[in-house]
Amino acid sequence: MMRQAGRYLPEYREVREKIGFFELCANAELAAEVSLQPFRRFGTDAVIMFSDILVPLRAMGMEVEMAEGGPRLPHPIASMADVGKLHGFDAAKSTPYVLEVVQRLREAAGDQAAVLTFAGAPWTLACYMIEGGGSKSFSTIKAMLAHDPQTLEALLQLLAETIGEFLASQVEVGAQALQLFDTWAGELSPEDYRRWALPFERRVFQIARRKNAPGILYINGCAGLLEDMATSGADVLSIDWRIELTEARRRVPAFALQGNLDPAALLAPPRVVKRRTRTTIDSLGGQAHILNLGHGILPTTPVECAETFVQTARTWHGIAVPEMEALP
Ligand code: CP3
Repeated sequence: MMRQAGRYLPEYREVREKIGFFELCANAELAAEVSLQPFRRFGTDAVIMFSDILVPLRAMGMEVEMAEGGPRLPHPIASMADVGKLHGFDAAKSTPYVLEVVQRLREAAGDQAAVLTFAGAPWTLACYMIEGGGSKSFSTIKAMLAHDPQTLEALLQLLAETIGEFLASQVEVGAQALQLFDTWAGELSPEDYRRWALPFERRVFQIARRKNAPGILYINGCAGLLEDMATSGADVLSIDWRIELTEARRRVPAFALQGNLDPAALLAPPRVVKRRTRTTIDSLGGQAHILNLGHGILPTTPVECAETFVQTARTWHGIAVPEMEALP
């Protein structure tokens, strides 16, 4: 599940009462513990390292806070001079805790689960860096794209090199697959996607996949971009819920697909969660499919519904499983 360690879990909220968000990310012992919470509770097939796509931005010299309403970057990037103040970094020196979390998870998961790491793609990170936080219109970065493309280009290039190396270093210490989140690339027209997001995703995969761990690419609102995403260098495309998996399969048949239950489906009663999860699994007949949500799990999700989602996935093989036959 995307953001499978998070606020919908009481044991996560308990840890967060005692520690700030980025402090938690920087505490290898606690971050590993939080990463393992959903694995222990549900028996997921993957342990996702607990961190955030904004963690490497702090190591690049950007100020980032986690406020009530989401991330806040008090000094957004507005010029080439601002880009000049940022820098790449060596993960072993600047974010040793990230590597330690991966190592701890690799040890704890053994042969029971894969350890997944992730990072934000350059376009999506640039959105936060230029907008200064979340955005609805992305008008500041889109204005920069129109009026100061050199600055945007320089920022995206720096991010691609830095994030590529950051991911590669995590694969070196035990991460078995990497997910690249280009969440906000779905806000771009296909033409702008090909110019401002895709080349930098490609560069990240080129660097990070040196060690051959499979790469997964997620875009929120990917339906208009699938054929282009297929040229990014990813092995798996992670699909949001606004498109049928069968249509995605038809359009990019060579790819394993991840997804794509609407996270809001987990707000329904468990029997509905079960039915919708089965429908999602059946749509691809279990072929080259990693079941997941179409975006991050919502903080208001009842734990019981997250459990039903995972349990259904683990016991449903597209054939009538006896204990489930009585259900509608
Ligand atoms: O999947 C996992 O279990 C790993 C953890 C993970 C987090 N963030 C933890 C987190 C992952 C994979 C992310 C990725 C992330 N972070 C993305 C890309 C994926 C996506 O959801 O589109 C983005 C865009 C971010 C940036 C970010 N971090 C936002 C917008 C927020 C606020 C979200 C909200 O609902 O308020 C965060 C905070 C965040 N990252 C939380 C968690 C568990 C909640 C913060 C808290 O504990 O208070």
